Amino acid sequence: MTTTENAPTTARPLRRSPGAVAPLVREAWYVVAARSEFGHELKQRWILGEPVCFFEAEDGSLIVLDDRCAHRRFPLSRSVREGDTIRCRYHGFTYGTDGRCLAVPGATPGDIKVRSYPTVERGPWVWIWTGADAEAADPGLIPWPKEIDGGDGVTGYTNNPCNYSMVHENLLDLTHLEFLHGIGGHDFTVTEPRLLSADELPAGFADLSVGYGKDLHTVLSHFAISAGDDPTTPVFRTGRMMSVTPAINYAVERFEPTDPAATAKLRTVVIAHCVTPADDSSTHQFWMYWQDVPFVVDRDERAALVKTVFNEDVEALTWIQEYMDHDERAGVVEHSVPADVPGLRLRRLLHRLAASERA
Ligand code: FES
Ligand SMILES: [Fe+2]
Repeated sequence: MTTTENAPTTARPLRRSPGAVAPLVREAWYVVAARSEFGHELKQRWILGEPVCFFEAEDGSLIVLDDRCAHRRFPLSRSVREGDTIRCRYHGFTYGTDGRCLAVPGATPGDIKVRSYPTVERGPWVWIWTGADAEAADPGLIPWPKEIDGGDGVTGYTNNPCNYSMVHENLLDLTHLEFLHGIGGHDFTVTEPRLLSADELPAGFADLSVGYGKDLHTVLSHFAISAGDDPTTPVFRTGRMMSVTPAINYAVERFEPTDPAATAKLRTVVIAHCVTPADDSSTHQFWMYWQDVPFVVDRDERAALVKTVFNEDVEALTWIQEYMDHDERAGVVEHSVPADVPGLRLRRLLHRLAASERA
C-alpha cells in the first residue's frame, strides 16, 4: 500500500463522534515548523485552529505572530515585509516583531497588537508556547528525548487528515507494523505490551506521559539497513514507546546482540514524532528517524522510505476518520485488546488535560 496524497477522500461535511476525538490542549509547547523553514519570507501555518505567520528576523530571532491583522483580519503572511516590520497589504497597518502595531495610516496605533508567540529551537524544529500566559513558557517543559545525542538522523513532515489523538494512538500500538507496513516481525506483534511505570517514563513528565515496553529475543531486521549491519543478527530488543502529551511521541529501540562476537554496530534507534494539531481534524507530524551510528545508505533515499511508511499510516487514518465522521450505527463499535491499553490511556489523558484547562 502506498500513497502520496494526504488530502481527505471525502467532501462531505464532518460530524464528529465526541468520544473518539480528543479536544485540543493549549498549555503546551508545539512544533510549528522545521528551523530550515524560517527565513526572510513570511510563511503561514494553522496551529490549534488558528493561523500563525512565521519568519526569521534580521538578527536571527525566530518570530511567530498571529496571522490575522488586528484591523480587518487580512493575513500578515500575505502582506509586505520591510526590514523587521510587516505592513498589512490591505490598509497599511504596520507591525513589529513583537506584534505591536507601530503605525496606522491616518490614525495612531494606540495599544493595537497581534499575539506574539514565545519560540524556542530544539532539535531540528522550532517550538511555540500556545498557553495563555507567555510568562509560563518555560523551555524546560519541552519533553525532548535525552537519548538523541550525537548519532545521525533524517527528518521529514507528514500531514494527517485526522484528530491528533489518532496519530498518538497509531504510534502507541505498533502491532500494526506487521500488517499495515509489512515490517516489524510477528515475534514483536505477539509480545504483550507492558505499561511503563512512572520511573520509566521521561523524567519530569510522568504525569503527562503514557508508554509501554516490549522486550524480546529477535533479529535486527529492518533496523539494520541504515547501519549496514546484518539484518539476521540475533539481538535482545527492548522497545519503549511513549507519548508525552500533547505534543510528542517517541520510540526508543535498544539492541544487544545475543552473541558477544557479533559485528553489528547499531545499538539504539529513536523514532520521534512531534504531533501538532492544525485543528481538531488535521494534524502536523514532524518526524525524525535517528540512530546512534552513522547512516551508510543514501540519506534522501532513507528519508523517502520512512515517509512511505508514514504515508501508509495517513491512508489508514484517513479511512478510519471518514468512518468515524459518517457511519452512525449505534452500539459498541470498537472492541479493544491488551495492545490498546496505552492508546486508551492516552485518550483519557488528553481529555483530562483539556478539561483541567477549561476549568
Ligand atoms: S486589514 Fe490590515 S490594515 Fe486593514
Ligand atoms: Fe505506522
